[in-house]
Amino acid sequence: MSRPVLMLLSGPNLNLLGEREPEVYGSATLADHVEAARSEADRLGWDLEHHQSNHEGQLIDLIHSARGRCSGLIINPGALTHYSRALADALATFEGPKVELHLSNPAAREEWRGISVVAPVVTGTVAGFGGAGYPLAVRALVEVGPG
Ligand code: DQA
Repeated sequence: MSRPVLMLLSGPNLNLLGEREPEVYGSATLADHVEAARSEADRLGWDLEHHQSNHEGQLIDLIHSARGRCSGLIINPGALTHYSRALADALATFEGPKVELHLSNPAAREEWRGISVVAPVVTGTVAGFGGAGYPLAVRALVEVGPG
């Protein structure tokens, strides 16, 4: 039997992790976080597919491509978290469990980061645990179960 597939999506500027504001986001690269998430998924019997894009429309297309194919979705939407209603609408069309993931705790930062327009359409949020959040998000999603 084939294993369930988890889609991990990384939004704008996350390709620069490791170089970008390391005092906020740490020194690990996106590849390091993906590897941590993938090994946790593998341990739990899931395959993980990762995509990063700096483009809102491309992220929306990727969410559409996960529909009916992937059993769960984890997204760090970067700054799109705070204003992209189009991304929220796309996430609402995905029927499986969904985790909103952030390295930092946006609620503890600038006021404009306190709003997440995607929070109402996800199963739950993991934020503020740095890189540890990646395997934590995988575990949370797998415990909720395939969609
Ligand atoms: C982030 C938090 C967002 O506010 C920010 O725009 C990012 C990264 C995080 O992982 O902490 O790009 O999503």
